[in-house]
Amino acid sequence: MLKDCQKLILAPLAGYTDYPFRLLARENGADEVVTELVSANAIVRNNKKTLQIMRLYENERPASIQIFGSDPVVMGEAAVIAEQYSPLFIDINMGCPVRKVRSNGAGSALLDRPDIAGKIVKSVVDSVKKTPVSVKIRTGKSSENKSGLVVALLAEEFGATRITVHARTVLDGFNGPVDYDFVADLKKKVKVEVIGNGGITSLEQARTWLETGCDGLMIGRGAVGRPSIFHAIRAGMETFPPEKVETVIRHIDLVEQHLGQKGMGPMRAHLVYYSKGFGNAKSFRREVLAARSFAEWRTVVTEYMEVNAENYAAGALEGDFPSEMDRMEVANG
Ligand SMILES: Cc1cc2nc3c(=O)[nH]c(=O)nc-3n(C[C@H](O)[C@H](O)[C@H](O)COP(=O)(O)O)c2cc1C
Repeated sequence: MLKDCQKLILAPLAGYTDYPFRLLARENGADEVVTELVSANAIVRNNKKTLQIMRLYENERPASIQIFGSDPVVMGEAAVIAEQYSPLFIDINMGCPVRKVRSNGAGSALLDRPDIAGKIVKSVVDSVKKTPVSVKIRTGKSSENKSGLVVALLAEEFGATRITVHARTVLDGFNGPVDYDFVADLKKKVKVEVIGNGGITSLEQARTWLETGCDGLMIGRGAVGRPSIFHAIRAGMETFPPEKVETVIRHIDLVEQHLGQKGMGPMRAHLVYYSKGFGNAKSFRREVLAARSFAEWRTVVTEYMEVNAENYAAGALEGDFPSEMDRMEVANG
């Protein structure tokens, strides 16, 4: 179904797509990964924690770095620093609906200001030496105002070589309708690569996306609790098999090795989603939250997945997006 040149990319998910999960996605068939959004202001202030987010390891490449901000000059300076980490792309966030980001004129607020969005792309493209630049947009602010098209055309004009579209409006947040036609239309209007994103949790949805003619698919929440989604889609599996215990144990091992105790918080969020499709999720969830060590998690996961393997219902996965993840605050302003 997918041509070799059509990439499967793990979406940036703040709080989820740290190095262990990115590597796990690569090991499970993702062709590319991206860091979570990184503040350009914090990058130029040399904030240690921020710089740490941009660290890419050899075994996870090809990996891109995503930056956000509203000032073309600062974005250009941040891109120069980001380039030192040798990302595949420097990706510019123009889709984040979170109030804190939007209120500073960054993320999806740039869809309301195509002039500034264009200047940012130009500044970043002109500042970097060799790294290609991509943008990640939404279709627009609302169904009446799909300014994403204007922004995408400007991005191409100013030198971006890839446009990723989360094909929902800002007001539709994370669960509104996906506008495939927007992407099919954009694909006809630009020469650069167009990547489709939004709502992919099954082969059927991936197929629908490919009908737009897009050059690749980006998967976010569909990969949480199911990193094997990349292999499954590439292999054309109509129904996805249960996630393997070994994959979850590998995830726990990676977090323990690379993040240690401080990785336990983010890992808890991942772990509860490994119950997707298995049933008896409540008691599993309780045990995951109660466990105080990586070793305990290994035992809890192994027992749970073995005992519940026969209850596994592939269909239960459809539309079963992690509910906590949908609580991201969507700005109305
Ligand atoms: C918890 C969470 C964090 C996210 N963080 C980012 C981010 O840092 N940068 C970004 O461009 N998009 C971010 N997104 C949006 C996703 O990349 C993606 O566009 C969206 O979830 C739709 O894809 P999906 O339906 O496959 O999840 C985030 C979404 C969620 C749910």
